[in-house]
Amino acid sequence: MAGLLRPWQLSSSARFSDRTATQRHLVPGFNVLPGRGEGMSRPGRCTGERRSPGLRSTGLGLLASVIVAIWAPPHLFRNPPDMEPIVPSVMTQPVADGLTHSAIFLVVTLKPDAQGDEAVRTLCNNLAGILRAVGFRKPDRRLSCVMGFGSDAWDRLFGGARPAGLHPFREIKGVHHAVSTPGDILFHIRATHMDLCFEVAAEIMSRIGDFVAAEDEVHGFKYFDERDLLGFVDGTENPVDQAALDATIIGSEDPAFAGGSYVIVQKYLHDMKAWNAVPVEQQENIIGRKKLSDVEIDDAAKASYAHNVLTSIEENGEELEILRDNMPFGNAGKGEFGTYFIGYARSPSRIERMLENMFIGNPPGNYDRLLDFSRAVTGSLFFVPSATFLENVPAHKGDAGA
Ligand code: HEM
Repeated sequence: MAGLLRPWQLSSSARFSDRTATQRHLVPGFNVLPGRGEGMSRPGRCTGERRSPGLRSTGLGLLASVIVAIWAPPHLFRNPPDMEPIVPSVMTQPVADGLTHSAIFLVVTLKPDAQGDEAVRTLCNNLAGILRAVGFRKPDRRLSCVMGFGSDAWDRLFGGARPAGLHPFREIKGVHHAVSTPGDILFHIRATHMDLCFEVAAEIMSRIGDFVAAEDEVHGFKYFDERDLLGFVDGTENPVDQAALDATIIGSEDPAFAGGSYVIVQKYLHDMKAWNAVPVEQQENIIGRKKLSDVEIDDAAKASYAHNVLTSIEENGEELEILRDNMPFGNAGKGEFGTYFIGYARSPSRIERMLENMFIGNPPGNYDRLLDFSRAVTGSLFFVPSATFLENVPAHKGDAGA
């Protein structure tokens, strides 16, 4: 399959020289196969707003795109001079780039300052460059950053069309309370080492720090063999590869925002004393997996309130997946032990349904006992536009391009 792709099928604006830029994946069905007739395009796919009139869906597997994107040298991404027009393929932000050892979750709100909005829009254009500059010095450390926008910030910064599922995070008051807290922009910065994450966070704040208030900044770390601070391996059932992209990246259901994603973040604080007083067997019932081996408890033996029962949801007989990149964090001196929950999905309703099952219960009252020991102290929802969108944000709101 990879042999069918031509270099100029990839966005001319894509620069893969470092493998760490904000953009990495082509959106399935939204790139082009030159030389294929109209009749070859996949039926039923909608045309993205940002695509050139001649753009046709290919239906080629994403795998081929990714292989080319990873292996082809940067000069291959220039359009050959005789190719007209340039094909603006949609590139995603590195949503599904996978777990790393370190992460910074930075949530900021915008101050009422038009100059600040311009600084943020300029940052949208410059983020990939910052990542190249920082990441190139340590290319093996898998530096990446995803930038997401809250509902109000979206209108304020970009105006115009809105992603179909974008709204403020809705608090849930069930047996437990999922709070909704302020957040205009999320930066999810990942790398194998914290130094790179910190450098990127500092660089971002040097550009927009005067115009935003930092609502929350959490430095997450991997804890032994992928465990959370409750002692359970966290992330086992995450979708991988194509399944991860299918779960997270918007396609033809919202063509103007294809290549985007949604993300919900919640900062949980654990009552470790209370949790450690619970017998391991009961902890395993609460999670739905064995603590030491991470093996899943048989369905027949699982409690109806198990975390992995309440967060398994279906539609028309098919499981609806999300991609989690939870990270432990803490402050031993302050007695703070937490899990930063971050879930990406192509529709926020998937994560919202899981949250309702956890906080209200399914059926109501059959809630997630994890919440008896873990309190959500933040909650925000963001839209993650494609990297192509970020690159084309104009400095002045209303100018053409975004
Ligand atoms: C205190 C916060 C949380 C902790 C400590 C936690 C921990 C875990 C653990 C240990 C597992 C089992 C291993 C795995 O498959 O990853 C798991 C699974 C999962 N969690 Fe969480 N989780 C938290 C919050 C959430 C939230 C808020 C959601 C969604 C809204 C969620 C969604 C899921 C899903 C979808 C699975 C996989 C279920 C399956 O298919 O087996 N988790 N979580």
